[in-house]
Amino acid sequence: MANWRERTYCGEINLGHDGQSVVISGWVDTVRDHGHLLFIHLRDIKGLIQVVFDPTVATDMVVARSLRSEFVVTVSGVVRRRADDTVNSKLLTGEWEVVAHHMEILNKALTPPFAISDKEVDGAVCVDEDLRLRYRYLDIRRPSVQSSLVTRHAILQEVRRFLSDHQFIEVDTPVLTKSTPEGARDYLVPSRVHQGSFYALPQSPQLFKQLLMVGGLDRYFQITKCFRDEDLRPNRQPEFTQIDLEASFIDEEFIMQLVEGLLHRVFAVRGIELPSPFPRLTYADSMNRYGNDHPDLRFGLPMIDVTETVRSVNYNIFKTIISSGGRIKGINVKGQSDKLSKNVLQEEFAKKVVPSLGAKGMTWMRVENNQLVSNIVQFFTDSEQSALRQVMQAEDGDVLMFIADSSPRLVNDVLGRFRCYVADFLGIIPSDVVAPCWVTDFPLFELIDGQLSAMHHPFTQPSGTIDSGMNRDTLASVSARAYDVVINGVEIGGGSIRIHSPEQQTTIFEILGLSESDIRQKFGFFIDAFKYGAPPHGGLAIGLDRLVAMVLGTDSIRDVIAFPKNRMAVCPMTQAPDTVDPEQLSDLGVAVTVPVVR
Ligand code: AMO
Repeated sequence: MANWRERTYCGEINLGHDGQSVVISGWVDTVRDHGHLLFIHLRDIKGLIQVVFDPTVATDMVVARSLRSEFVVTVSGVVRRRADDTVNSKLLTGEWEVVAHHMEILNKALTPPFAISDKEVDGAVCVDEDLRLRYRYLDIRRPSVQSSLVTRHAILQEVRRFLSDHQFIEVDTPVLTKSTPEGARDYLVPSRVHQGSFYALPQSPQLFKQLLMVGGLDRYFQITKCFRDEDLRPNRQPEFTQIDLEASFIDEEFIMQLVEGLLHRVFAVRGIELPSPFPRLTYADSMNRYGNDHPDLRFGLPMIDVTETVRSVNYNIFKTIISSGGRIKGINVKGQSDKLSKNVLQEEFAKKVVPSLGAKGMTWMRVENNQLVSNIVQFFTDSEQSALRQVMQAEDGDVLMFIADSSPRLVNDVLGRFRCYVADFLGIIPSDVVAPCWVTDFPLFELIDGQLSAMHHPFTQPSGTIDSGMNRDTLASVSARAYDVVINGVEIGGGSIRIHSPEQQTTIFEILGLSESDIRQKFGFFIDAFKYGAPPHGGLAIGLDRLVAMVLGTDSIRDVIAFPKNRMAVCPMTQAPDTVDPEQLSDLGVAVTVPVVR
């Protein structure tokens, strides 16, 4: 094989190489046999270059003619400018070609199960994702996947530089550890030495990073794997990467400014400019206006509560809902009346889409000639109509859509998702806008089936004072010093100012229903640490995979992870998780008591 010291990358050939001898190595992307001449595109990490085999120059045309896609070759030859009429403007190196003098086949390749060349990218994208994951090493060979991984690397470099410049110290924390509650199930690792005992893989380094603050490290960060056994969704993986950080003697403002600065730098990797400062909403505002705690602010369509405005309207459905404590909320789809036919509004949206989201139906009105037009306006007096127009800021050409239900929570949830559906349907989500925001003042607890649980995690500081004697409803209304950073409707990161008093931490565990012995057994070491002088501290973690996907504008975080699991939490390439030898189980003192289903 030619000397690696002499190697030039295919994608870097340029004017400076004109007339020079080069050695290039890589994979055959495509082959075109023009009878007398043979052309190939040779591909490496930096791009493609055309190579010409000319029988008057090349040593062995028979070997050249045996080339197939994905053969691994090394070529030495001379760079020359392509004839004007053959310049390929789609290639960075499209003005140049290498005239082969010598070529060595380093390895042959089977015909891949799907197209790898980006020339046939549509073909590859349509391929079943499991097939791509089964041959992920071939999928990674596709320039678009390589480019995502390269961008991920560039982002990581920026993050490390930025945080180091801000005096953060990178520390790695254990992977074989004890359960850290983040709301998911743990992945457990049985101990051979201590049979019957298990390590838990960390759901996050939360406890350790707080202990590093007790250790006086002042500012910590880590780019680290976290493991959560939870229901998979497109932006969730059982193992994923966090940019995790923590700092002492700081407040919310410090973390928010730091993270905004960090995100500005990260998006700049792809030339994307973010607003400054990020808008902030409280949790209550976000729920009321957008129906969830991760609002998509790229388009308008805020939800408007019209319950009071229509309270006295003589329309039975509204009356019944209002008298049962329900709400009526609407969105104003501005200036889109022409694009929303009666058929779409009634047959599609009201009868299919909204019921599929969980509500019974949807009421809509057009605004024409400064009047509301709808099959229910007959129930409104003139002044009720005018009040509704005013509160909805309705103008000619607008369409108002309302969802009413006796459950205010359902109204928020369904209308929140419906506003996104409508925006997508109308194509009014700008593709070039990145809309970040902070959501703050989360409740400290949530009530699930009558039981209080921590909304973020149990280490978050309450905004006011609390004690275990407070009743459940009062506790459920206490807010937390927590903050989430959301971009385009996706929760990118979350964190909080932490509890640093051992007494307050114990109180929270008690409120969450942990017995004294549970607290000692699970968190004794942690509470003890607080007794030796814990500084006030706080932090946040960003989901790196979600962040990279957002910077690249891809839909799925699987696109930016080298070897992701599929929707069933399986790796189709290695077939993990897999059964193990009975001896291994016996060494661990573990017995499988269920039939293995794969
Ligand atoms: P949280 O649980 O909010 O906070 O996680 C932080 C961020 O991690 C990302 N994330 C995920 N990404 C991919 N797959 C998953 N299964 C997954 N789960 C979470 C999200 C999320 O915003 N210890 C706290 C942080 C802190 O308080 O400092 C924590 O882990 O982008």
